[in-house]
Amino acid sequence: MNRVVRIHEHGGPEVLRIEEAAPQPPDAGEVLIRVAAFGLNNSEAQLRRGTYPMTAADLPTRIGRECCGTVEAVGPHVSSVQPGDIVCTIPAFDMKRNGVYGDWCTVPEAGVTPIPKGLTLVEGAAIWQQYLTAYGPLVLYGDVRASHTVLITAAASSVGLGAIQLAKLRGAKVIGTTRTAAKRDLLKQHGADHVIVPPDEPLADRVLQHTGYRGFDLCMDPVAGPDIAQLAACAARAATIFLYGQLSPVPSPLPLLDLLRKGLSIRGYTLWEITLDPNRRKRALDYIRRHIESGALRPIVDRVFRLDEIVAAHAYLESGRQAGKIVVKVEESAS
Ligand SMILES: NC(=O)c1ccc[n+]([C@@H]2O[C@H](COP(=O)([O-])OP(=O)(O)OC[C@H]3O[C@@H](n4cnc5c(N)ncnc54)[C@H](OP(=O)(O)O)[C@@H]3O)[C@@H](O)[C@H]2O)c1
Repeated sequence: MNRVVRIHEHGGPEVLRIEEAAPQPPDAGEVLIRVAAFGLNNSEAQLRRGTYPMTAADLPTRIGRECCGTVEAVGPHVSSVQPGDIVCTIPAFDMKRNGVYGDWCTVPEAGVTPIPKGLTLVEGAAIWQQYLTAYGPLVLYGDVRASHTVLITAAASSVGLGAIQLAKLRGAKVIGTTRTAAKRDLLKQHGADHVIVPPDEPLADRVLQHTGYRGFDLCMDPVAGPDIAQLAACAARAATIFLYGQLSPVPSPLPLLDLLRKGLSIRGYTLWEITLDPNRRKRALDYIRRHIESGALRPIVDRVFRLDEIVAAHAYLESGRQAGKIVVKVEESAS
């Protein structure tokens, strides 16, 4: 089958259309993949709605960046993979031409990497975005270690759970937040030392209590909005806050007094800093692959849908009920 998912207008999950389209033969430097499964990311809901801040709306468009499947053909000058290889895609390309929701995708070689040993095809569609996003703040820039306390907001998101695992791997103490009290135990099971459920629990007070009133050293925050003032209030001296998303629809005030008083850094961050730089990309992929293959990093798949359930899968993504990755299985036999 040659089904692809496209959007022709922005809107709710129902604008995702399954259409027939012949596979796009790979140009020089490109790889054609027969997709077995693809993972959903919050940024794709934003692209669908027309609120994705990173690229301008240009319709119709394909959608999706994270899949696992078999290389069907390669274009000239491709040297790292060959037909028959089982590979994953990593977010290193534009979705319009290279979107991965469907039976096939054609993507640049830089966005393709072999599946880590020991993973199923479904798990192979559920790893790279969260670990590559967390790698920048926690490993490359933050050099997180045992003496550090890391605050991870929206911790039950797929990036949040990946970040908890990576921070624990490096020995740090982890405080996670969720708005949903029912996810508290799950976050603890996945490694969070403390879980805070704002607004019922006051975020800054609780972080200060859990850190002996010292505050956190590093925060990964995809929410922003008014709670930035809370984050600054419970940051340790010289702490860094990595803002990597804008889940809050409300403008973000600058907490200037805490910035000045504590010498804080608030830094915008995207995983493109890693995936579009060949050296950083290689180092990040090697690091993450090594720890997946050793079992130290374990992909967390929340729920699996079929391709003909793509509208329901996006509705579930938007519900906020998930904890971990939502995967869509394209090949019936994929496990
Ligand atoms: N900068 C980058 O390179 C990069 C890369 C990947 C993702 N991101 C961003 O990271 C964010 C998470 O992506 P994801 O795919 O991991 O998400 P996800 O798995 O879909 O999880 C989203 C979770 O965030 C929480 N949430 C939603 N709206 C919120 C709000 N207004 N305030 C607080 N929490 C809220 C909810 O959890 P609770 O109910 O538990 O609170 C929800 O389940 C998105 O904003 C995405 O764009 C950025």
